[in-house]
Amino acid sequence: MNLKFIALAVSLFAAASSAVCGQSLHKNDNPVYLDENQPVEKRIEDALARMTIEEKVRILHAQSKFSSAGVPRLGIPELWTTDGPHGIRPEVLWDKWRQAGWTNDSCVAFPALTCLAATWSEEMSALYGKSIGEEARFREKDVLLGPGVNIYRTPLNGRNFEYMGEDPYLASRMAVPYIKEVQKNGVAVCVKHYALNNQESLRHEYDAVVDDRALHEIYLPAFKSAVQEGGAWSIMASYNLYKGQHACHNQYLLNDILKRDWGFDGVVISDWGGTHDTEQAIANGLDLEFGTGTNGLYGDSKNAYDAYHLALPYLERLRDGRASEEVLNDKVRRVLRLIFRTAMRTDKPFGSLCSPEHYEAARRIAGEGIVLLKNDNSVLPLDPETVGKILVVGENAVKMMTVGGGSSSLKVQREITPLEGIRAAVGKDVEVVYERGYVGDITGNYNGVVTGQDLSEERSADQLLKDACAAAADADAVVFIGGLNKSAHQDCENSDRYGLELPYTQDAVIEALAAVNPNLSVVIVSGNAVAMPWVGKVNSIVQAWYCGSQAGTALADVIFGKVNPSGKLPMTFPVRLQDNGAHALGAYDPEDRSVEYKEGIFVGYRWAQKYKVHPLFAFGHGLSYTSYGYGKAESDRKSISSADSLVVSIPVTNTGDVAGKEVVQLYIGDNKSSVERPVMELKGFRKVYLEPGQTEKVSFTVRPDMLKFYDASKGDWVLEKGRFTIYIGASSEDIRSKLEFDVK
Ligand code: BGC
Repeated sequence: MNLKFIALAVSLFAAASSAVCGQSLHKNDNPVYLDENQPVEKRIEDALARMTIEEKVRILHAQSKFSSAGVPRLGIPELWTTDGPHGIRPEVLWDKWRQAGWTNDSCVAFPALTCLAATWSEEMSALYGKSIGEEARFREKDVLLGPGVNIYRTPLNGRNFEYMGEDPYLASRMAVPYIKEVQKNGVAVCVKHYALNNQESLRHEYDAVVDDRALHEIYLPAFKSAVQEGGAWSIMASYNLYKGQHACHNQYLLNDILKRDWGFDGVVISDWGGTHDTEQAIANGLDLEFGTGTNGLYGDSKNAYDAYHLALPYLERLRDGRASEEVLNDKVRRVLRLIFRTAMRTDKPFGSLCSPEHYEAARRIAGEGIVLLKNDNSVLPLDPETVGKILVVGENAVKMMTVGGGSSSLKVQREITPLEGIRAAVGKDVEVVYERGYVGDITGNYNGVVTGQDLSEERSADQLLKDACAAAADADAVVFIGGLNKSAHQDCENSDRYGLELPYTQDAVIEALAAVNPNLSVVIVSGNAVAMPWVGKVNSIVQAWYCGSQAGTALADVIFGKVNPSGKLPMTFPVRLQDNGAHALGAYDPEDRSVEYKEGIFVGYRWAQKYKVHPLFAFGHGLSYTSYGYGKAESDRKSISSADSLVVSIPVTNTGDVAGKEVVQLYIGDNKSSVERPVMELKGFRKVYLEPGQTEKVSFTVRPDMLKFYDASKGDWVLEKGRFTIYIGASSEDIRSKLEFDVK
């Protein structure tokens, strides 16, 4: 039986006999706040009226690392939060980050959100949300700390793997189904990190200086969709500053934009330790404070939670009249609303953990997110019937990747590494040999969760290279599996990467292998773009992301053609760091406390196209084992007014020999505008399944709101008349058909 509900029943019984503030609760009362037939807002008002001022303040801050207190006297339950966003974090101690030592808190790790974004499939996003929501529910969590939707501004951001790429439209579309499905479990999402947390260097200290247009066109849309379309019940305010105020208590971001303009009725939760100022925390929109340093984040102290900004310091101000009860009640209503939506709901499902369905979901999502970047001479897929000996090289073939990276680190029930996945896929007739090739990072622990892998290596770098090359000369096919990992300054929270290059000696190993065996495929496991100086020497390249529990199975599915790759890049892979706007303009400095987003709206492909910088691999790029032919795009009308829409259609045919899924992408550009606009911007996409020879007519509706830009002088979105171009293609750089229309 659900422990929380036993607790609820016990405390209700106690409450029934005690005199309470506001109203008493007698034995025969049927209090409105407990009556699920009553409208939620009425129940909130009823509960609010019964609460003392101390109780009100008490639900606005943490009582442990991941929980807040609820109202025990009234049987209003605690709120339990959990990371997020790729699986359900193992239990830590009440006051410490150390493991609690539970044995029932292992989970399924789903692919990292970059991989989910790379599926370009709302269906996969819904499957992800459903599955992780069920795991959260089974573990009795009320708030899942995710998804993350910060925009990929620089490939150095250590946390990009937790986000959904560089494009606001793609991130919006991919976030919404995840949110809706999680919340169907009676578990709230907590969309993070709002806002402008686009780097980890000095994450608590930098002030993001961004113009209003870039703020509204690039950095906010995914949050706005999460709130308005996804109906997110909570949002996590980020560590950084904006306009001189920390985002956790920021008048502009929280009160003005989120709560007033977007009508957000949920809870603003501080990122752990992101609250710094009591007056601002009270006045500037924070509702629920977590992780502030006094609680043992960096040391232990007694009754530390009372010292939180939204605890005794707030109470003192309420008592002496410096703080108003009106503002307090708004925060309390929000937190109660969240509790009613989650912890206190009795009609929610029970969830499930580590089920075969969840493993299958992880495998499917990974299979649809893995991106085939290059495949000259059809090196892939490998045919287990004809390939006698496969050499696998590289540390990431054997290293577990679910441990590390910061708060998203997990304790998995199982994780199939790439080497294990490949071995399991081929059976006995194929010989699979392994060579390390290089040594990267042999550690494997996070907050007391250890992988238990022994990755120590005695051989010198030279010897490792020689051994790998000798084995490569003797193999029918070579698969190099490297990339980044989850250690500091790689793909990891709280630090950024030092550069775009692959770490360790990987470039040299890849070059040497390519010289020995042309049947080489390079698999990059990372959440970020990496430089590929060897790109011209390698026939086949796969971007495999961090795929969680099913990493090896899903990769093997693609390598052997069981799954025809259909992932597309959710971010631009630049040739050099300087090909990215922020870096070209010197507008990223890990030691700078004022980070000026000088590139404005020209992020990712918007920058590459404006300056005609040829990317290594373009936004939206991804190959398949089949080929797709695009016909001519046609629209049902040549012009629209601000009140109409038009439908554009294009026939897409599978012109190859195997079935596959193609992501048909629609971009729109304004031919002439009073302000500078990107050449084109993503405004639609559809993933279609096609049998060999099959054609489908893919249609998109173009609405006037898709054509607007944000006019900073008006503080509003503006539609200008004139001619626009629709571009439809297989990537932002592979446009297959265009047509123009007028806005009259
Ligand atoms: C991270 C959040 C995370 C929180 C709780 C913070 O350091 O930035 O994303 O949810 O810790 O673990």
